[in-house]
Amino acid sequence: MSDKKRLTTTAGAPMPTNEFSLTAGKRGPVLMQDYQLIEKLAHQNRERIPERVVHAKGWGAKGTLTITNDISQYSCAKIFSEVGKKTEVLSRWSTVAGEQGAADAERDVRGFSLKFYTEEGNWDLVGNNTPIFFVRDPYKFPDFIRTQKRHPVTNLRSPEAMFDFWAAQPESVHQVTILMSDRGIPTNPMHMNGYGSHTFSLWNAAGERFWVKFHFKVQQGHKHYTNAEAEKLIGKTRESYQEDLFNAIDEGNFPKWKMMIQVMPEEEAMNQPFNPFDLTKVWPHGDFPLIEVGELEMNENPENYFMYIENAAYSPSNVVPGIGFSPDKMLQGRLFSYADAHRYRLGTHYEQLPANHAKNADVNFYHKDGSMRFFPPKTGHVDAYYEPNQYAESAKADPSVAEPPLRIDGDAARYDPADPDADYVQPRALYAEVLNDEERARLHSNMASAMGPCSDPVKERWYAVLGRVHPDYEAGVRRAVEDDVNAISVTDDTPVEAAE
Ligand code: NDP
Ligand code: HEM
Repeated sequence: MSDKKRLTTTAGAPMPTNEFSLTAGKRGPVLMQDYQLIEKLAHQNRERIPERVVHAKGWGAKGTLTITNDISQYSCAKIFSEVGKKTEVLSRWSTVAGEQGAADAERDVRGFSLKFYTEEGNWDLVGNNTPIFFVRDPYKFPDFIRTQKRHPVTNLRSPEAMFDFWAAQPESVHQVTILMSDRGIPTNPMHMNGYGSHTFSLWNAAGERFWVKFHFKVQQGHKHYTNAEAEKLIGKTRESYQEDLFNAIDEGNFPKWKMMIQVMPEEEAMNQPFNPFDLTKVWPHGDFPLIEVGELEMNENPENYFMYIENAAYSPSNVVPGIGFSPDKMLQGRLFSYADAHRYRLGTHYEQLPANHAKNADVNFYHKDGSMRFFPPKTGHVDAYYEPNQYAESAKADPSVAEPPLRIDGDAARYDPADPDADYVQPRALYAEVLNDEERARLHSNMASAMGPCSDPVKERWYAVLGRVHPDYEAGVRRAVEDDVNAISVTDDTPVEAAE
């Protein structure tokens, strides 16, 4: 016994058994004083925390960002300070709508979250595998998500609700087109791009601001499943992403992405034919070429999934000096939403959990007490539990890291940015110029199977949106829906004897 580890209670007392309850007699009832049994059952009841309200199913890894190109003319962020600089990263990829037990290979947008542990604090980029989003105002996000989750009566997901909502938000057609294209079911996170999606900002040592889009270009190539392939796969395993990712990293096949940016000088934002802060629009590559920044390599499986991936708390509000926000309304909404979600899901001091702790920064703050206060004061002086104070060594704000001032003016009002034509330009380019004939045919058929169960009025409203993108788009999806209906009625009409 002496050289073996002894099993103990959580308070450290050695345990005589982990198998047999303390009972009154051989066949008697359990005694209340078997507190280790009570502890064991009580702990089991607390093993789950609320799942994320969206993006509940996820897979993650640890890795490194290596800077390969000098972009210090755009940003003074330390993470970009020199070529060759390496920064630790924690990634989490996810599907949006499914619950924690959802199958991995379902058609959905994928989350693409990165936490960079920089020496000036954690920078979180909480993006998707798409460069755009369904809506451009945070007011619409809870309603949008409701249409993706379960119907309150049937407790089933509702295509009627999805297409009803999208038809009322024509700006969503851009993202819905990507979702229904081949890229709607990547084979796993190692075969998809990542995008910061929003416009963010960078500022340099001279105080000049640039608007920026972040891109992560997959180096393993894009790979996708068709609907039929995904259905077959899900029949065999619901955990294909976890299996693929964990095994690849375990075997030393580390996935990589090239980090790139698009840059727009601050004053040029007003001169664009589109609103560069509208999350339903990309910045065309022809006008804003991609600039290389570095290489992202994910190379370590976390030693504990719950500790690092379930406990990971990403927030777009986590930026560092040299990187900032933009007037994008959706981004502004998200700046509130994530930390609020973390306080509810994980607890007050969630930032001190190992996944979230800014381990490469000197962290000093005055938030006090509350649940999870399991760390010593971080103010630099034992008597400095308030600020300002008399203690020279206590933590003080550093005005030198202040963001350059941003000029904002305008009348406070609730603006409806609906632009009858502008919302169709970019989806039209994607449909007509980026996709080839085979990809368009699969897009038609994927969309037809997704909207097949919808009522005729909802279908007609959605066809009208597609028609404004491109007449071939509407015609193609109409035809595919009719083909599906005919295929089903042929099966239905088959006499039972003939089918046998
Ligand atoms: P380009 O012609 O320069 O490039 C087309 C882009 O489309 C590439 O980034 C490519 O990604 C991506 N792409 C290819 N197939 C799909 C798909 N099924 N779903 C989503 N993206 C796909 O593009 P432009 O900048 O001139 O924009 C044209 C249209 O391309 C846009 O309206 C937009 O719909 C789409 N797009 C543009 C992006 C941008 O940031 N400008 C990013 C992604 C899409 P990859 O290079 O990895 O193959
Ligand atoms: C997760 C809100 C838009 C990407 C979440 C969570 C909330 C949320 C509350 C759960 C967080 C948690 O419990 O850990 C919102 C709101 C939005 C919005 C209010 C719009 C106003 C977006 C957009 C993107 C995005 C536009 C991508 C560009 C993600 C990702 C996650 C997530 C990747 C999972 C993070 C993780 O891996 O832990 N969102 N979201 N969201 N969201 Fe959003």
